Amino acid sequence: MKRRFNKAMSPKRKKVVCECLQVTEDDVIEAIRTRELRTVEDVTRYTEAGGGCTACHPSIKQYLAYLASSASPSCSDK
Ligand code: FES
Repeated sequence: MKRRFNKAMSPKRKKVVCECLQVTEDDVIEAIRTRELRTVEDVTRYTEAGGGCTACHPSIKQYLAYLASSASPSCSDK
């Protein structure tokens, strides 16, 4: 039995974090990492994610927390 092609199943489809502003997970993660963002307001300023209904704010906070916890301290900080 053949499966019907479903766009949602496409590996090329990027996950959208903020539906209002259509900001993808890749954009949020890159902005947090490259600009060392620490707050939802920072993320909104650089990506616009979270600048609408605010429903995505909990998700953005999760990305911030995860990336902050996965950042490794520099050896030169010792
Ligand atoms: S879903 Fe991000 S502001 Fe509405």
